[in-house]
Amino acid sequence: MKALILSGGAGTRLRPITHTSAKQLVPVANKPVLFYGLEAIAETGIIEVGIVVGDTAKEIMEAVGDGSRFGIKVTYIPQESPLGLAHAVLIARDFLGDEDFVMYLGDNFIVGGITGPVDRFRAERPDAGILLTKVSDPGSFGVAELDIDGRVVGLEEKPEFPRSELALVGVYLFTPVVHEAVRAIEPSGRGELEITDALQWLIDRGRDVRSTVISGYWKDTGKVSDLLEVNRTVLETVEPLVEGVVDDTSVIIGRVRIEAGARVSGSRIVGPAIIGANTVIRDAYIGPFTALSEGCRIEDSEIEYSIVLRGSSVTGVRRVEASLIGRDVEVTPAPRNPAAHRLVLGDHSRVQISS
Ligand code: G1P
Repeated sequence: MKALILSGGAGTRLRPITHTSAKQLVPVANKPVLFYGLEAIAETGIIEVGIVVGDTAKEIMEAVGDGSRFGIKVTYIPQESPLGLAHAVLIARDFLGDEDFVMYLGDNFIVGGITGPVDRFRAERPDAGILLTKVSDPGSFGVAELDIDGRVVGLEEKPEFPRSELALVGVYLFTPVVHEAVRAIEPSGRGELEITDALQWLIDRGRDVRSTVISGYWKDTGKVSDLLEVNRTVLETVEPLVEGVVDDTSVIIGRVRIEAGARVSGSRIVGPAIIGANTVIRDAYIGPFTALSEGCRIEDSEIEYSIVLRGSSVTGVRRVEASLIGRDVEVTPAPRNPAAHRLVLGDHSRVQISS
């Protein structure tokens, strides 16, 4: 069995972060989202992994390399433009050959991995398998309709009037019959070859498409609010560890990981939280569910329930909350006179000012 990971896509919902960085590389608890997926695939015993890449190919290739670090062998498959999930299968035909495969969307996060569903698929070997989960906003996903025996009878992509609350999770299991389906379908209204349509094509021809409803937490990390929630969930499992230096005037409470070279003085850190390597915390409060990447500086400030990427600083600012701060960003107070906000913001930035 092989794996196909999709890591193209523009990541428009995570702008401006994704102007300069691939959405699959945005860190959750200081590790790129995509790495959790690669680890989950490695756990199933699959070795041959194809990664479909788009505009951000260079960055993904630099981060993942040949995959040996994860115990897998990676082949990169360039996709000229994001023409849909079924299009990705179409262009990966040579790599996939006639083997079964699992397709995994690189910005999805499945707590507990995918070994259970993959093993079940290997044992039962239906024509295709999908993972479903109950959501409150099914209209934002592919939606499945099941009969009373749990067989998939219908699938619809982002329906206006969803027939169930069961959304397609970004993990699909296929036998080679899917290749015929992706060749047969036409682009959807949004101009993409939808994998949902390929699955429906199989169902319409009497093929056996089975589903597993997973209760494990998962999210499409394409949105900031989702990303903060995934970060929170993963931080809950952090093992406390102090590799950096914490002075006597600081207080560390709960699950906090302080990485090598980090320095904490005169501060209070309430976990779960991660302080990245070489990050400096001075006279600050770091609240629960905060992940600070390497080389950051938080001084005379308070920050909680946030993600800060590498090389950024927050100085002299009271209470930053529910925020995603990019790389090499500076947040400081404005001078006293005039009492005005001074902003230098990149394209598609979003700022909420408490005044
Ligand atoms: C894609 C699929 C959709 C699925 C979702 C999961 O949507 O088309 O069926 O529910 O991934 O993340 P997209 O993220 O491309 O809008």
